[in-house]
Amino acid sequence: QFWHVTDLHLDPTYHVTDDHTKVCSSSKGANASNPGPFGDVLCDAPYRLILSAFDFIKNSGQEASFMIWTGDSPPHVPVPELSTDTVIKVITNMTTTIQSVFPDLQVFPTLGNHDYWPQDQLPVATSQVYDAVANLWKAWLDEDALSTLRKGGFYSQKVPHNPNLRIISLNTNLYYGPNIVTLNQTDPASQFEWLESTLNSSQQNKEKVYIIAHVPVGYLPYSSGITAMRQYYNEKLVELFRRYSAIIEGQFYGHTHRDSIMVLADGDGRPLSSLFVSPAVTPVRNVFEKQTNNPGVRLFQYEPHNYTLLDMLQYYLNLTEANLKGESDWQLEYVLTQTYGVGDLQPRNLYGLVKQFAALGSKQFLKYYNYFFVSYDSSMVCDKKCKALQICAIMYLDQASYTDCLKRYL
Ligand SMILES: *[C@@H]1O[C@H](CO)[C@@H](O)[C@H](O)[C@H]1NC(C)=O
Ligand SMILES: *[C@@H]1O[C@H](CO)[C@@H](O)[C@H](O)[C@H]1NC(C)=O
Ligand SMILES: *[C@@H]1O[C@H](CO)[C@@H](O)[C@H](O)[C@H]1NC(C)=O
Ligand SMILES: *[C@@H]1O[C@H](CO)[C@@H](O)[C@H](O)[C@H]1NC(C)=O
Ligand SMILES: *[C@@H]1O[C@H](CO)[C@@H](O)[C@H](O)[C@H]1NC(C)=O
Ligand SMILES: *[C@@H]1O[C@H](CO)[C@@H](O)[C@H](O)[C@H]1NC(C)=O
Ligand SMILES: [Zn+2]
Ligand SMILES: [Zn+2]
Repeated sequence: QFWHVTDLHLDPTYHVTDDHTKVCSSSKGANASNPGPFGDVLCDAPYRLILSAFDFIKNSGQEASFMIWTGDSPPHVPVPELSTDTVIKVITNMTTTIQSVFPDLQVFPTLGNHDYWPQDQLPVATSQVYDAVANLWKAWLDEDALSTLRKGGFYSQKVPHNPNLRIISLNTNLYYGPNIVTLNQTDPASQFEWLESTLNSSQQNKEKVYIIAHVPVGYLPYSSGITAMRQYYNEKLVELFRRYSAIIEGQFYGHTHRDSIMVLADGDGRPLSSLFVSPAVTPVRNVFEKQTNNPGVRLFQYEPHNYTLLDMLQYYLNLTEANLKGESDWQLEYVLTQTYGVGDLQPRNLYGLVKQFAALGSKQFLKYYNYFFVSYDSSMVCDKKCKALQICAIMYLDQASYTDCLKRYL
């Protein structure tokens, strides 16, 4: 088993006070909506919320071999309110916190677009932040991993006690639209070249691979025709993931703050790879959005010999309730195979599931859409267009097939 936590977004300024515009800098001057000890939906995470998530994991009784942590530690605040120093301080705080709660746990981290200053501008060569995290993450990563981390913010490493299982941690922030440093570059930091040769030698060495990264491949499920990363990079990654799908047993992302899946298929519609986007620990939304997510963390189960993914257990905190009671009661939200009645998490099973989602009035899809927001608001309705965007984003990751899907459903 392994844990996946993402998008902690600590807001160190969070404090409950009568003037609701002053509760947290991440509300950017707006009144917090109903602030309590565990946070507010207009604010990033107070330290107490993050600690409650880690304490829950620690006391859950679940034995895990490792944890993946897919980035975004600093708060959503205007660029001038942060600095390289404060960003490094927050990442240091989160790293130290994880290491003190889990002194013996192997953690595989990735950088998020907020783990840099100015945000999103992760560079293609060594930087203060890459250097700082390479020092901070020494307890978890080996020399080879630290060396590429220092140069380009990515690495790969074998998982201890899991023979022939390799984690590839990508810096997909290099491909993120708002990153102007990489505009017009065909292979920023030579990460594609490195990824291809890493996958190729993994294949030759009969390894299995889990891909972890912050910004996901594919299309955003809540907007029309927008990839999370730039189109060109998205196509390149999709091509590589198809070519090496025989050894990629799973892909794990963050960044959208929502709970979603994708199934990568080949040109003939044969499912090749299962992808999972984990919801955030932070409950933050901006003042113009109606919806957000409850805080979530998740546990994956895998077959210990060939590393196929067997199941996923999603846990969450009902933030409203936690604030009312003044205590955090993290609970199991759903078990993927049980809630949807699928055998395991292999691509063909998820593909079958999405086919069910697509059916008119699908009850399975109603569940999926409620879990998308981590049970924040079960009265949310997904109309025809909303559903088409969701379904096409789950099933089609490249431009040609996605565009074709939208034409069929809309
Ligand atoms: C915040 O709430 C107070 C009290 O209701 C109100 O007077 C003020 O205008 C609000 N501020 C903003 C920015 O909405
Ligand atoms: C992390 O930051 C929080 C909130 O500012 C603070 O209470 C806590 O002591 C810090 N922890 C570490 C390990 O730096
Ligand atoms: C990228 O390419 C476009 C079109 O060729 C050009 O207009 C733009 O100036 C280039 N940007 C950078 C940062 O090189
Ligand atoms: C791996 O590299 C070898 C040697 O360059 C090449 O022949 C082979 O096609 C590559 N494998 C894949 C799946 O592309
Ligand atoms: C993985 O191993 C399990 C247990 O031996 C087996 O049932 C399953 O078919 C294997 N999966 C693949 C994809 O080889
Ligand atoms: C969360 O707690 C609130 C307040 O107790 C309750 O109204 C709501 O139904 C709960 N949500 C879930 C998904 O249980
Ligand atoms: Zn985030
Ligand atoms: Zn992000």
